[in-house]
Amino acid sequence: MTEAPTARKKGLFIRTYGCQMNVYDSERMADVLRPLGYAPASTPDDADMVIVNTCHIREKASEKVFSELGRLRDLKTQKRQAGDDLVIAVAGCVAQAEGAEIMRRQPAVDIVVGPQAYHRLPEMVARAARAAASRRPGTMKGAGVLDTEFPIEPKFDHLPAPTTVSGGSAFVSAQEGCDKFCTFCVVPYTRGAEYSRPAAAVIAEARGLVAAGAREITLLGQNVNAWHGAAPDGSTWTLARLIAALAEIEGLARIRYTTSHPRDMDAALIAAHRDVPALMPYLHLPVQSGADRVLEAMNRGHGRDHYLRLVDQLRAARPDMALSTDIIVGFPGETDSDFDDTMRLVREVGFAAAFSFKYSARPGTPAAMMARQVPEAVRDARLQALQALLGEQQRRFNATLVGHTVPVLFQESGRKPGQLLGKSPWLQSVHADGDARLLGQIVDVRIVAAHAVSLSGEIVVGDFASTRTAAAKPIEVAA
Ligand code: SAH
Ligand code: SF4
Ligand code: F3S
Repeated sequence: MTEAPTARKKGLFIRTYGCQMNVYDSERMADVLRPLGYAPASTPDDADMVIVNTCHIREKASEKVFSELGRLRDLKTQKRQAGDDLVIAVAGCVAQAEGAEIMRRQPAVDIVVGPQAYHRLPEMVARAARAAASRRPGTMKGAGVLDTEFPIEPKFDHLPAPTTVSGGSAFVSAQEGCDKFCTFCVVPYTRGAEYSRPAAAVIAEARGLVAAGAREITLLGQNVNAWHGAAPDGSTWTLARLIAALAEIEGLARIRYTTSHPRDMDAALIAAHRDVPALMPYLHLPVQSGADRVLEAMNRGHGRDHYLRLVDQLRAARPDMALSTDIIVGFPGETDSDFDDTMRLVREVGFAAAFSFKYSARPGTPAAMMARQVPEAVRDARLQALQALLGEQQRRFNATLVGHTVPVLFQESGRKPGQLLGKSPWLQSVHADGDARLLGQIVDVRIVAAHAVSLSGEIVVGDFASTRTAAAKPIEVAA
C-alpha cells in the first residue's frame, strides 16, 4: 500500500446472528458508520472494527457470543502487538440483555450497543477512539463504552436512509419491539415496547430502495401485523392499508411481511392477500403449539381453533397460499397429549416450511420459573418427531411445483459456476443456470426437480423480463 495511514479507509466487519431485524439493523449500522470512513471488510482479519450483532432468543445463540468474543480478543492482541488495533463492538439482543456482563466477562470489548441506540454509534466510536488514545501501552483492555438506553425518540429518525440493494430484494423495518409478553420470550425485554414507524417513512424508504433496484420489499417487525402507523392524512393506518399504498410504487413487483402474530391477523389483511397481486402468496404465521392449554400458558392470547380458522380464511382469500410457522416443543408442562395436539395441527394445516425449536429457558422470563420443566431427552424426541413430519411436508410441497413455470427473483450467484439462486413466490430457493445479468430480476423458470429445501429449474427462454406473479393455482400440502 502506498497510501498514507491517515488516508486509509477503515474496514468494518459485521457478524449477524438472529432474525431479519438484525440483518436490517446490521445494514443500518454500516450506513451510519460510512461517513466515519468505515467500508465493508471481508473478514475480521482485514477489519479495524468488528461488530457482533447478537441474538438472545435461545441459550445456545446467546452462549455463542462469548466464544466469538474470545477469538476476537486474540485477534485484537495480535493486532496491537503489530502496532495496529481492533475495535470490538457487541450489538443486538445479548448486548441489551447482558451489556454489563459482557464487559465483565470480556474486558477486550470496546462498545456495547443496544438495538435502540444504533444512531448513537458514531458518538460511541469517537469515545472509544479517545479512550484508545489515552490507553496504557501493552493493555488489552477495551474502551468500555456502553449504551443500552431505550431512547424517547425512535432511532429511525436519526439513521441514514438505506441506499444499497443487492439481488433485487430489500427489507424495510416497519415495526419494532413487542408488547405481547409470551411467557417464554425475551424479545419484549431486549427490543422494548411496540413502535410503528409512520407510513410516510416506510413508503419513502421503500421508494428509495425500488429506485435503487429492489423488485421486492419485505416489511419487518417482531409483530409486523400489529403495525398501526400514522398515515399521511393524520389518521392511523393498519398494515393492510400500508401494503395497498406500497403496491402503488411503480417497479415494485413483490411485497412480503414478517413476522405475524395470529392475534393480529385482521380481516383487512386477509383480504389484502386476495386483492393485492404484489402481495406474495406466502405467510409466516408462528403457532408455537397446537394445544390450547400450552398456548394459554405461553400467553399467546388465542387457541388452536383460532389459528385453524385463520388458515382457512387465508386459503379462501388466496387458494395458492403457502404457510410457514414456528413451533416450540417441550414448553414447561407440555404432556405427550399436548404434543400430539401439535402434531395433529401440523397435519391439519400442511406447512410449506417451518422452524421448530426445543424450549430454552431464558433468564427473567415467566416460563423459566414454571414448574414441570420437560426433561431434555423428551424435548429431543419430540423435536425429532416434529421435524420428520415438517420435513416431509416441505418435500411434498416442493414436489407440487415440478413441471410448473414460476416467476423467480434471482438474488445471488449459486455455488456452481453459471448458476443463479433465487426465490419463488412461495419463498422456496430455486437454482437455475443463467446469466449474472439476470440478478435482481424476476424471470420465468420451469421447475424440473424438487429437493428437501430447494427447487431446480430452467429459465424459460424469451420471457426474461416477466414481472408477473404466478397465476393462482391450488397447492395441496396436507399430510
Ligand atoms: N415475533 C415472532 C417470533 C420471534 S422469535 C412471533 O411472535 O412469532 C422467533 C421464534 O423463536 C419464536 O416464534 C419461537 O418459536 C422461538 N422462540 C422464542 N423464544 C424461545 C425460547 N425461549 N425457546 C425456544 N424457542 C423460542
Ligand atoms: Fe416474542 Fe411473543 Fe413478542 Fe413474538 S409475540 S416477539 S414470541 S413475545
Ligand atoms: Fe434474536 Fe433479538 Fe431477533 S433475540 S430473534 S435478534 S429480536
